[in-house]
Amino acid sequence: MADVVAAIDQGTTSTRCMLFDRSGTEVSRHQLEHEQILPERGWVEHNPVEIWERSVSVLQTAVNRARIAPSDIAALGITNQRETTLVWNRRTGRPYYNAIVWQDTRTDRIAARLEREGHGEVIRQKAGIPPATYFAAGKLQWILENVDGVRAAAESGEAIFGTTDCWLLWNLTGGPRGGVHITDVTNASRTMLMNLTTLDWDDELLGFFDIPRQMLPEIRPSSDPNLYGTTSDDGPLGGAVPIAGALGDQHAAMVGQVCLEAGEAKNTYGTGNFLLMNTGEELVRSRNGLLSTVCYQFGDAKPVYALEGSIAVTGSAIQWLRDQLRIIADAADSERLAAGVKDNGGVYFVPAFSGLFAPYWRSDARGVIAGLSRFNHRGHIARATLEAICYQSKDVVEAMEADSGVHLDVLKVDGGVTANSLCMQIQSDVLGVDVVRPEVSETTALGAAYAAGLATGFWSDVSELRENWHEDTRWSPTWTDEQRRTGHTRWKKAVERTLDWVDL
Ligand code: G3P
Repeated sequence: MADVVAAIDQGTTSTRCMLFDRSGTEVSRHQLEHEQILPERGWVEHNPVEIWERSVSVLQTAVNRARIAPSDIAALGITNQRETTLVWNRRTGRPYYNAIVWQDTRTDRIAARLEREGHGEVIRQKAGIPPATYFAAGKLQWILENVDGVRAAAESGEAIFGTTDCWLLWNLTGGPRGGVHITDVTNASRTMLMNLTTLDWDDELLGFFDIPRQMLPEIRPSSDPNLYGTTSDDGPLGGAVPIAGALGDQHAAMVGQVCLEAGEAKNTYGTGNFLLMNTGEELVRSRNGLLSTVCYQFGDAKPVYALEGSIAVTGSAIQWLRDQLRIIADAADSERLAAGVKDNGGVYFVPAFSGLFAPYWRSDARGVIAGLSRFNHRGHIARATLEAICYQSKDVVEAMEADSGVHLDVLKVDGGVTANSLCMQIQSDVLGVDVVRPEVSETTALGAAYAAGLATGFWSDVSELRENWHEDTRWSPTWTDEQRRTGHTRWKKAVERTLDWVDL
């Protein structure tokens, strides 16, 4: 009997593959970064072919490291950076253009026009999200309008659209030789094109962006006993492994953190931060700047919804200190530097590089560093960067509590930045609640593995998944209420300074 489940996590900066056993314990992994292509101010692209090649390498290496045969893999799950938009030719497999990444702001005018023309409310009602550069539909419209030949090819059914889950699924199942063109319901919910109630593409929404329906993938449950397909014999595994789970990475993290009951929430600290709260079978509409989204759908059960607070720039602000400002050599340096100062020295950094996402949704915002004096040095900038990660999450927690009426008395966390213990301590201080990290902090890959393993009977039900969750580290608040209040008030002032920066 097969004894592991594999998951590919195709993220914004890297792709990893992890293998898990029945107890949810990691058996092996491999991870590779890919190039961030920044052709113009505000533009962020990835090379789809590089993403596919990296996915093949990490899958093969993780399997080799585990010293197992493909027949030992019960199922494969996929999770991915959401919203990042690709168009390729179904006959040749060739992409028409680079993938336009979720952080890319080139469609800010498309988003502003939708609002001006009065379509914003329909999009909010039907898709659960506001018109913003973040989501896929505007990016797809941009490709249709700006890349030669794409519109005609889309109308004839040759050019097809997908997010990176869909691109990997298509390639893994044979690509031009019969690959399946499928996405899951959580990824579809991030396009601005899917109706959250019918779980189908919506003609009125397609009309706003002038998108031919035939270029869109079939929408399937996130965990699918009917299988999306199997890996092709001539593919990376050289044999047929069932592919049965796919979810956007934040939805996968919800499953990996077993936030499977209404009111359960987690915050993932990656390139950005994404705080989701399970709202059960009820589709809750936010009055406070959060998104409504599909949390997951298992088989033919009803979909489970979530409220989400998405923050564009958190971990990537640490990368910015490393790659652009060059005041740290690696991510761990940010913790050392920030620990060398007793507080932020009056400095607040709002990294609104892609505008501000939740709860503000201001495409016209750009980053600021406020409160500088001659006394400040890079230690304060590092500290202000860690605080920015935490204050942005506080703004989202406040919106979440206001929308849901649920008071979060503990925050489950995961993702790369949770290795930064000082940052997690600041998060607890800023929120005034305990922050808890599980033993398996790679909850995204774990969630995709769970979705695939549930569909194929590797795990029999969710109670088995609950038993696999174990607390690893807990941070408790040390600040006084007064410190918390003053800090947050200053932060809010700094946020105001970012607004109205770009004319749309
Ligand atoms: O919505 C974007 C999100 O899915 C990206 O996640 O972890 O790749 O930064 P990550």
